[in-house]
Amino acid sequence: MRCHKCLLCLSALLTLLGLKVYIEWMSEPQLGKAYPGPRSSPPGSTPASAEPTLPANLSVRLGQTGPLPSAYWNQQQWRLGTLPGVNSIEVGDCGAWGAAAAAEIPDFASYPEDLRRFLLWAACRSFPQWLPAGGGGQVTGCGDPSNVPFLLLAVKSEPGRFAERQAVRQTWGGPAPRVRLLFLLGSPVGQAGPDLSTLVSWESRRYSDLLLWDFLDVPFNQTLKDLMLLAWLGRHCPGVSFVLQAQDDAFVHTPALLDHLQGLSPARARGLYLGEVFTQAKPLRKPGGPFYVPGSFFEGSYPAYASGGGYVISGRLAPWLLQAAARVAPFPFGDVYTGLCFQALGLAPRTHKGFLTAWPADRTADPCAFRDLLLVRPLSPQDSIRLWKQLQDPGFQC
Ligand SMILES: *[C@@H]1O[C@H](CO)[C@@H](O)[C@H](O)[C@H]1NC(C)=O
Ligand SMILES: *[C@@H]1O[C@H](CO)[C@@H](O)[C@H](O)[C@H]1NC(C)=O
Repeated sequence: MRCHKCLLCLSALLTLLGLKVYIEWMSEPQLGKAYPGPRSSPPGSTPASAEPTLPANLSVRLGQTGPLPSAYWNQQQWRLGTLPGVNSIEVGDCGAWGAAAAAEIPDFASYPEDLRRFLLWAACRSFPQWLPAGGGGQVTGCGDPSNVPFLLLAVKSEPGRFAERQAVRQTWGGPAPRVRLLFLLGSPVGQAGPDLSTLVSWESRRYSDLLLWDFLDVPFNQTLKDLMLLAWLGRHCPGVSFVLQAQDDAFVHTPALLDHLQGLSPARARGLYLGEVFTQAKPLRKPGGPFYVPGSFFEGSYPAYASGGGYVISGRLAPWLLQAAARVAPFPFGDVYTGLCFQALGLAPRTHKGFLTAWPADRTADPCAFRDLLLVRPLSPQDSIRLWKQLQDPGFQC
């Protein structure tokens, strides 16, 4: 009799223990995957909310507190007032910031050439639009308020990538209600390459979807595309609800993205910065690599940021981001810089597991793998067209 009770007790205990182990086992990987929010917010910093704010002193927001590293960016951010404006005509002294950087960074001469060039001109952020010879092809604004797009697809391309642009037009960027497509490009004149002006002018007249600016289209000038787009939005499309910023080798499941955005709560939609979020990323210190950042330039971790392969922001943040960018010291990588500007505004990125910006090439053949995804890259123009056809097929089943 007693032993029966004992057994009952023991089995109850064992069940409880098993349950505990199971719960721990279940919750651990999920915790590891979920975005932990603005990590290690320094004491005194404002918790992230949906409303942007821009304090007079950004040091605490950007984690520049305590003993300050001697690296140039960290020192600059500490001292920085305002950089020359994106919209301003006074281009005159924008070179002064770069000249000072070159003079003050002790090992500047040993920096890779493109990083040196970036730093020399990083504060020059005001460029005229590049207009096709012979006129025409002007990109129109978003027009009257009844017609404002819900989603603007702003695709970063380079003048020579004609096939990539055409694939986007024929697939996920094709005409859809309240969706607008624009490509962001630098000058088609280039530097050492062929002069693509005639071809790009033709394309611009044919499609009226190219926003071109007169600066060299190189990777370290990508931030200029972001800033020029923000300025353009303020002037020509202030009412747009959401803006997707993506590379031209991305593939976007536009209907699924629209569904997701339409389903957001108003609070979440207001401060949206959505994509594949990297937290705790650190600068790469291996000279010669594409993302090399010398220790004498930047110390510390990157802010949480959404991968530049493709992310969505809410349109109302455009003027806020421009204001933040005027007060955040230049950084060579566009997506990290956007992350810094959001951090300055007190807004945190949100991760969505449907954004995969390093998609394994061998999986592109499978449209079923794509069902729950919103954006993947890189895909070739051919793969994009094939995948889009499969997804559009009414008979498509997994
Ligand atoms: C900004 O805040 C930091 C940390 O509180 C402070 O040490 C620094 O002097 C402030 N900078 C300015 C320009 O007020
Ligand atoms: C960016 O474009 C400007 C204007 O064409 C140019 O002066 C600058 O060198 C470019 N930046 C880089 C890193 O090449």
